Amino acid sequence: MDPVRNPYAPGAGQRPPELAGRGEQVRAFDVVLERVARHRPERSLVLTGLRGVGKTVLLNALRGQAVRKGWGTGKLEARPDQSLRRPLASALHQAVRELGPGADDGGDADHVLGVIRSFAERQAGPDAKLRERWSPGIDAPAVRGRADSGDVEIDLVELMNDVGGLAADLGKGVAVFVDEMQDLGPDDVSALCAACHDVSQSGLPVIVVGAGLPHLPAVLSASKSYSERLFSYQRIDRLSRAEADRALSAPAAEEDASYDDDALAAMHTATGGYPYFIQAYGKTVWDLAPRSPITAADVAVAAPEAERELAVGFFGSRYERATPGERDYLRAMADAAGPEDDPDDPVGSVATAEVAGVLGKKPQSLSPARDALLKKGLIYSGERGRIAFTVPHFGRYLRQQA
Ligand SMILES: Nc1ncnc2c1ncn2[C@@H]1O[C@H](COP(=O)(O)OP(=O)(O)O)[C@@H](O)[C@H]1O
Ligand SMILES: [Mg+2]
Repeated sequence: MDPVRNPYAPGAGQRPPELAGRGEQVRAFDVVLERVARHRPERSLVLTGLRGVGKTVLLNALRGQAVRKGWGTGKLEARPDQSLRRPLASALHQAVRELGPGADDGGDADHVLGVIRSFAERQAGPDAKLRERWSPGIDAPAVRGRADSGDVEIDLVELMNDVGGLAADLGKGVAVFVDEMQDLGPDDVSALCAACHDVSQSGLPVIVVGAGLPHLPAVLSASKSYSERLFSYQRIDRLSRAEADRALSAPAAEEDASYDDDALAAMHTATGGYPYFIQAYGKTVWDLAPRSPITAADVAVAAPEAERELAVGFFGSRYERATPGERDYLRAMADAAGPEDDPDDPVGSVATAEVAGVLGKKPQSLSPARDALLKKGLIYSGERGRIAFTVPHFGRYLRQQA
């Protein structure tokens, strides 16, 4: 069919033509925004799930909801070994700008921008060389003595209070979106929790919305025991059969095309309802199908090409980040998880001791490989002594490589 009219959008963070199956989160977030605007106590939202389930896309959609309500918003993506200061300062700078006219040219706003600047500049340290200084793009002079103690927890609490105060004065709110939140350093996680706790107790209209891998709740509660009451956790997962059908059919209908029932069943079997796979299969099947309605035979013909694209774009790009030793570890994980995908444990977690058994090595000797893979975000540990792939169907991919 005409590739120019192909509606599907495989790719990290690519907005899907139809945001299927996320109505619950979208509605819940509207309630959060309303309640925070009315100074009602409300928990911040944290989205968790495997790679490719649509966390980034949903985070962007929620940001859109906040913008439509006139809120100031900003977003950042956490990275391992990167301090929160600069990206958060940029996100809050953006949020203050979005609060609109009056926010970025008044005395109060200038003060808040100056605090953001002093928070950001603290990173370089007082005696940093000039070239290491980073320009936050804020014209207002830094406000010395505010948010620049060097203790990120103290500084963040002060910063969020000042930003929240400005938003409250303007009768608006501020929402900060943090993607890949599991990659924040321990001090930054702890500071962010403390700041959320503080602004919510003061009834200030500031919220943090996070997204990350399935072990993010464990990261947060290890940092602050009260984090369970601070955040409302939403597990983002595979789409049900009906939702997956809608994700495929609604965009096709916009282009006057359709799938027959067997085609939709075949698509669900192939994709497991994972949003990334739905977009990838949708795109390839559309291009290779001769005409509408798309049939199960069309799906069967396109499947090898769809798998080839996934092997390069989705799996391969991640596999390449691993060193040879780490790849051995990944393959041993796939073997330990067994050839069959267990429907009750689609994540396929395995005991680290079992992986060591497959490799015939002592578990301790494998810790460096395991830790590196955890840090690279290829695996995660949901419970002590067990690990799982962060990428759905990764075990199957690895077994096919062998
Ligand atoms: N609700 C959804 N319905 C249909 N497709 C979706 C949905 N959410 C995400 N996608 C698609 O899935 C892919 C992965 O989305 P992304 O947000 O990058 O996932 P994650 O951040 O969880 O890794 C993208 O191609 C996106 O278009
Ligand atoms: Mg993402």
